[in-house]
Amino acid sequence: MFRLSSFVLAIIAGAAITGCGWRSQDSAAEGGAPALNATSIGPVPGPATQAVGPHNPYNQDHAALTEGRQFFVRYNCSGCHGGHAGGGMGPSLRDEVWLYGDSDAHVFDSISRGRARGMTAWGTKLPQDEIWKLTAYVKSLRTPLEPEAPEQ
Ligand code: HEC
Repeated sequence: MFRLSSFVLAIIAGAAITGCGWRSQDSAAEGGAPALNATSIGPVPGPATQAVGPHNPYNQDHAALTEGRQFFVRYNCSGCHGGHAGGGMGPSLRDEVWLYGDSDAHVFDSISRGRARGMTAWGTKLPQDEIWKLTAYVKSLRTPLEPEAPEQ
């Protein structure tokens, strides 16, 4: 009797151990530690899709562009992006390359939520209104509407 029950116990224990081993392997694959390439800190470069979002209420508004330029200097965007946004520690905002998309919504999002490699999130510090004006200013660069364009 004693031998039989210990034999049964051994079988149960064996099954439990194998069962556990099996389950933990499974859960790691399904929802345990996520795979490294699935983990990103903040938004990742390159728009997967064109953002559909609100359009800037200040596009083409000269007074707003001038204010945007003032904010750009006041909030020291120029400290990282250069006096006329030609680039520095941060990327140029004058060139043709947009790391995170060029639509109004993308640029607003870059400023508001920040970007992974060193761009501050301003959304908690500035009213939306000011972020839209900054967006309008950034998007006016290299166009005839740009306030205070650098001398060529
Ligand atoms: C501390 C330095 C720093 C400051 C201050 C800063 N930026 Fe940036 N900004 C960056 C860096 C670095 C990136 C690129 C981030 C990346 O590649 O992930 C960036 C990216 C951006 C982008 C996206 C550019 C693209 O190609 O898609 C915009 C737009 C932008 N900044 C606007 C602003 C504005 C407007 C301000 C001021 C309110 C500002 N930044 C202040 C460092 C800064």
